[in-house]
Amino acid sequence: MALLELGLQNILQTSNTTLSRRLRRLRTTPALRAMVRETELNARDFIYPLFVRHGSGRNEIRSMPGIFQLSVEEAVYEAQSAFNLGIPALMLFGIPAAKDSIGLENFSNQGIVQQAIRAIKQAIPEMIVMTDVCMCEYTDHGHCGVINTGNHPNLPQEYVLNDETLDILGKVAISHAEAGADVVAPSGMIDGMVSGIRSALDSTGFEHLPILSYSVKYASAFYGPFRDAAESPPQFGDRKTHQMDPANVREALRETALDITEGADMLMVKPALPYLDVLYRVRQAHPELPLVAYNVSGEYSMIKAAAANGWIDERKATLEALIGIKRAGADMIITYHAMDAARWLSQ
Ligand code: PBG
Repeated sequence: MALLELGLQNILQTSNTTLSRRLRRLRTTPALRAMVRETELNARDFIYPLFVRHGSGRNEIRSMPGIFQLSVEEAVYEAQSAFNLGIPALMLFGIPAAKDSIGLENFSNQGIVQQAIRAIKQAIPEMIVMTDVCMCEYTDHGHCGVINTGNHPNLPQEYVLNDETLDILGKVAISHAEAGADVVAPSGMIDGMVSGIRSALDSTGFEHLPILSYSVKYASAFYGPFRDAAESPPQFGDRKTHQMDPANVREALRETALDITEGADMLMVKPALPYLDVLYRVRQAHPELPLVAYNVSGEYSMIKAAAANGWIDERKATLEALIGIKRAGADMIITYHAMDAARWLSQ
């Protein structure tokens, strides 16, 4: 006790030091903190991913609490709720009725995504409907391209073929455009996907349709829950021959520079939280283009799981993660937290 008193006395004696720089002055009240806040999070920053499937109703994805596979009718309902909360855009993913080696439903005008685009645009014309352009949800092998079954002896068996895949991606983009999509977003990390889709769109009267390229997409373990949601796990091998190595960042600048020359209108970095340095570097390298970050399924599920266990405050952790992504340089965030975050921000 005597020791503690002595210590306190010591501290009080030294406490009249004059400090000219006190950063705490501007943190004193909520009003002062709000006034000097550098980054702001808004519902209009969010792009909300939706999974659409055939049939009726909705079923929750086991590894993504609060996220559902939706029928077209339910997708329209969800889109309306998002729009009412101020969320301006959606990213659509489809679960087809049947899968095959090249994913025929992906470019059918009766495909599930095509139906959902038409229904959403009809109900909410102002909602920006973006579509993921990739093959993995539609192929029976679960890969993002045409597979080498031996016709390319110089390439490994089961290799995801590049140029054969480009033809199909062009067809998919046209089909989404015809259904009324506002933006197409190729996500397969196939070389030339932006220029291939650009020329496919230009030759069919869709010169005006923007491309959001998944420019920098890593071969990430954080896509695990998405593959449950989209029923798209690779049936053999992995995606490392096209998606990027998590160890690389200079390569990200090469990818983005190339996408710009190919005609990308917006760039993306994916995932978000483990790659904030990449986001920052891309922002610095290309300040002139809109930059999107994809806060992926595994990032979402980690917060959900910790919150469900009572280990973390879901609301605070979510908003902190999202503002971190914006602070690092993202203009927009594709996030499964969009609805919750928009609700919290409006309170
Ligand atoms: C490919 C695609 C994937 C994701 C978005 N588009 C899966 C993959 O590359 O394996 C993952 C998104 C997420 O994890 O939330 N169509």
